[in-house]
Amino acid sequence: MPLVSTKEMFEKAYKGGYAIGAFNVNNMEIVQGITEAAKEENAPLILQVSAGARKYAKHVYLMKLVEAALEDTGLPIALHLDHGADFETCKSCIDGGFSSVMIDGSHHPFEENMAVTKRVVEYAHERGVTVEGELGQLAGVEDDVSVEHHSYTDPSQVQEFVEKTGVDSLAIAIGTSHGAFKFKPGQKPQLRFDILEDVSARLPGFPIVLHGASSVIPELVEKVNKYGGAMPDAIGIPEDMLREAAKSAVCKINIDSDLRLAMTATVREHFALHPGDFDPRQYLKPAREAIKEVVKRKLVNVLGCNGKA
Ligand code: G3H
Ligand code: 13P
Ligand code: ZN
Repeated sequence: MPLVSTKEMFEKAYKGGYAIGAFNVNNMEIVQGITEAAKEENAPLILQVSAGARKYAKHVYLMKLVEAALEDTGLPIALHLDHGADFETCKSCIDGGFSSVMIDGSHHPFEENMAVTKRVVEYAHERGVTVEGELGQLAGVEDDVSVEHHSYTDPSQVQEFVEKTGVDSLAIAIGTSHGAFKFKPGQKPQLRFDILEDVSARLPGFPIVLHGASSVIPELVEKVNKYGGAMPDAIGIPEDMLREAAKSAVCKINIDSDLRLAMTATVREHFALHPGDFDPRQYLKPAREAIKEVVKRKLVNVLGCNGKA
């Protein structure tokens, strides 16, 4: 099966009251852990690649890994550019075989964001590629850029943005954030569901995207801390909040930090218990297995897309 765009996936997800997981990939073990989980749960999947991942692994290696996953699983998989910074980056991924891209113009003024998004949409749609835009800005760290405060999406802007740009989906800011420290110590996790409802009412049938949606799984944080410390205040979005969002207009939920935690916790534990190991397969195999377990948990408990491939 060839790569699919997100169009049909999102139509089904919207109608079915579930969301598709968009998981960040950087190497073979991550691709395998995610896709093995999706295969066992018969779930549609978005594998997404950041600029940092392309720099780390090279476009062609990631492309070939995803092609292998398609062949191995037979699942509907979209390959998506995460946080495309400009037209050139999006063009390079479209020309290089991606089936979906995000143009992240959220840090630009509204008119400028619309202009660059529209340009990417025109180029992408001529080639059958879907486009995600963003309005509002998340707090947190992403690609070495740290944003201190949320700029919540202004619902009064969304209709004009979607109509004028022609985007296929829209990422909005309702209080999720990138990374493992999503709330201050002692702060109660909260999302602005009122903004999500207002946006959805203005865009009937239109797919909404949530970035920064890792739960920062407490058992994994505990394990990371037990075997080396360094993350005492890590906190994410509670799973029940994400489950609620997945039942609404939210059709795509981005998860990266939970995979990083799964891998790091497992590798740290492995070396604490087996300090003499030096064959990378001995620690990457359990790390891959840990990613698979986390992804299965997300597909079933958070996204509700198991059995929907
Ligand atoms: O939103 C950012 C993702 O977690 C990707 O992170 O840019 O470090 O690959 P990265
Ligand atoms: P997390 O840091 O919450 O996993 O978010 C990932 C993300 O939004 C990638 O675009
Ligand atoms: Zn993101």
